[in-house]
Amino acid sequence: MDQALSFIQPTGHVTLGNYIGALSHWKPTPGSVFGVCDLHAITVERPPEALHAGIMEVLSVLVALDLHTNGSLVFLQSGVPAHAEMAWLLECVAHMGELSRMTQFKAKGRGNDAVSVGFFAYPVLMAADILLYDAATVPVGEDQKQHVELTRDLALRANNRYGDIFTVPDPVIPTVGARIMSLRTPTDKMSKSTDDPDGTVLLLEPADKIRKKFLSAVTDSDNEVVYDPEHKPGISNLLEIAAALSGEDRDAWAQRHRTSGYGAFKRAVAEVVVESTAPVRQRANDLLAHPDALLAVAKSGQESAARRANPKVARLKQAMGFPTA
Ligand code: AMP
Ligand code: TRP
Repeated sequence: MDQALSFIQPTGHVTLGNYIGALSHWKPTPGSVFGVCDLHAITVERPPEALHAGIMEVLSVLVALDLHTNGSLVFLQSGVPAHAEMAWLLECVAHMGELSRMTQFKAKGRGNDAVSVGFFAYPVLMAADILLYDAATVPVGEDQKQHVELTRDLALRANNRYGDIFTVPDPVIPTVGARIMSLRTPTDKMSKSTDDPDGTVLLLEPADKIRKKFLSAVTDSDNEVVYDPEHKPGISNLLEIAAALSGEDRDAWAQRHRTSGYGAFKRAVAEVVVESTAPVRQRANDLLAHPDALLAVAKSGQESAARRANPKVARLKQAMGFPTA
């Protein structure tokens, strides 16, 4: 059984990077699990209204992609207490040293006394998300590979100590589009939390706004469309986006546009983006107009998720020595 599992944080608007690197690869196969990891979103202080709006937006996208159909689940992590309980049990398996080596912590947390304990421990909560459901594959963008590898280490360590409890998952990283860069600073990852919103394309923003962002994408001055991430990061990023969404490879795109001028090339990329994302954008925006119906989908997913997750927690607790009533 190849059960896939992945989550997305409601820490801002859903980006084109999220779509290309992760969401577009998520498929509602029987037994698969997808969710909004809202508990992950409070590792830094966040206004309650922003958290709430972020949760609804991400949920609308997951439902617009039909990830709650065909025996696959969509739910909110905060609705299934087993995630927090499993995270505690695994925190007692994880080592300070391995968490200190996580790139995300090193980049944003280390050396800052006021960073939350949750920010430090966050990869263990992610491991709990994955291990609760015996996921075989975890489709994510490149930035999450290290966290899935930590999850594998924790699963093996726990299995070693307590018996064969967890399935050891494999990360699945796309070959094209695993790391989409900002359109304004093509050496930085396109991100939900950014100081330069023009560099981040949002999945649900109006098509005209998306086109405008592409037309003002930072490139270089030699006017030749060639894939060369080191010397031409802006153009290479646009080729990566076009290839990921069109199914036609980077070289074919580059050849066709080699001498067509940057303006025409950017317009062509913008059209592929607008067209390929139009159905999900339309559906998600429609769903957002009916928040109660959206939350009902999450509630039903939550009940099924708890039925799968609770026995896993019980099994680990029993193996650890906690008496069962
Ligand atoms: P996050 O927004 O951090 O919750 O990420 C959700 C998913 O999108 C994860 O699988 C990330 O690896 C993926 N992702 C986020 N940003 C990018 C990006 N710029 N390029 C490719 N994938 C991304
Ligand atoms: N940490 C992931 C991110 O920032 C989100 C996440 C949480 C996740 N739990 C997960 C991804 C479980 C895959 C599987 O993108």
